[in-house]
Amino acid sequence: MAKETKSLQEKLTQWALVHLDSIFAILRVVKPTVVFKGNAVVTRFEDVVEVLNRDWVFRVPYAEKMHKVTDGSNFFLGMENTDQYTRDVSNMRIAARREDITDIIKPFVDQASAAIVQSAGGRMDVVLQLTRVIPTRLIGEYFGTPGWNENEFADAATIMFQYLFYPDDPAVEEKALRAAEQTRNYLDQAIAARKVTPVDKDDVLNRCLKLQEAGMPGMTDVDIRNNLIGLIIGAIPTTSKCAAVTLNHLFNNPELMVVAQQAARADEDDKLIQFVQESLRLNPFAAGIQRICAEDYVIAKGTLRSTKIPKGARVLAATQSAMMDGRKIKKPREFQLDRPAYNYMHFGFGLHTCFGQYINLTQIPGIVKAVLKQPNLRRVADMKVEEPFPVSLEIEYDH
Ligand code: HEM
Repeated sequence: MAKETKSLQEKLTQWALVHLDSIFAILRVVKPTVVFKGNAVVTRFEDVVEVLNRDWVFRVPYAEKMHKVTDGSNFFLGMENTDQYTRDVSNMRIAARREDITDIIKPFVDQASAAIVQSAGGRMDVVLQLTRVIPTRLIGEYFGTPGWNENEFADAATIMFQYLFYPDDPAVEEKALRAAEQTRNYLDQAIAARKVTPVDKDDVLNRCLKLQEAGMPGMTDVDIRNNLIGLIIGAIPTTSKCAAVTLNHLFNNPELMVVAQQAARADEDDKLIQFVQESLRLNPFAAGIQRICAEDYVIAKGTLRSTKIPKGARVLAATQSAMMDGRKIKKPREFQLDRPAYNYMHFGFGLHTCFGQYINLTQIPGIVKAVLKQPNLRRVADMKVEEPFPVSLEIEYDH
């Protein structure tokens, strides 16, 4: 009986996931914020913004798992809006600077992506050979931490991401905590090695060590390691999925593919950013962003849709739904290349907006561009996904 119930539940969940867009569309009209069994789902654009803007009411739920990943500390995505949060983000913004995007990141991503596609010789698995390789190599080059083994390093980041941001699963937890230990050990050794044998390079690790020498609070070896581990987890599986999903959307829509390829060949990078933004809006990275409600709170107060979210509720701010909300997004079902940046919420909103948001809008189009430039580009097999990440997308092109 229990088995039957479980399979029914699984079937219902599966059905809901497949029809999520339609479910959100109905909710936005009928019941924009639903509260059930200690959960709440917020579906309208304005209300999603309200949740993500009220960081003291809607708090991040990640601290407990972050403690396990960092072996007793936290990482700033797991923190409330405290002085420690501000200190850690500020330190890492000094170490990973906005101007690095043009000086270091863009040249690296463009060159490394083009080289991989060229050397693959006309046939490749984009996920295995490119979309997860580039962010891993960027971390090697830019952060100064290439990992103990490129593939295992990417796997470790991926399983830790799944542990932190997806529902509890003991098998995932076990693997993730092993990966966390291995990653911590690796980073501890990398930091120690830099101190014993300094490297003359202007990378994020050296900048962190300079801040440490200058006596900056929050920059002990363990602090540096924990900051890096959080960034590494946030950077690899996310970038890989977004680049693969964008390419797959273009393969599914040959008329868009033609225009995107023209843009790639003309190095129209701003246009490629819009291709990425729109492809992801229609095939989002995730359904939304999780929060815990810290006090009884009325969302959309003063409107007909106002709804009380009780203290303790687990809240999903459904960014996927917000980006399809026709009240804010013009003709949301259409693929349009001229939407304003504020229509998109791929990288969150408010206090915890993605640290890598500008890196992403350089790195993802850079990876995608290298593929789009290829003549007679074709998909050999459908993209394979092992939830929540794509694991394979095979392509061919003339070489
Ligand atoms: C490429 C696709 C990416 C996507 C779709 C993505 C998405 C997100 C989202 C939705 C959040 C908000 C989480 C929340 O509010 O609970 C976030 C936060 C964050 N992301 Fe990303 N991310 C990406 C890439 C990156 C990269 C490349 C890095 C690092 C270089 C990174 C580092 C972070 C960090 C550190 C935070 C926490 C920021 C804070 O707490 O202030 N992400 N990301």
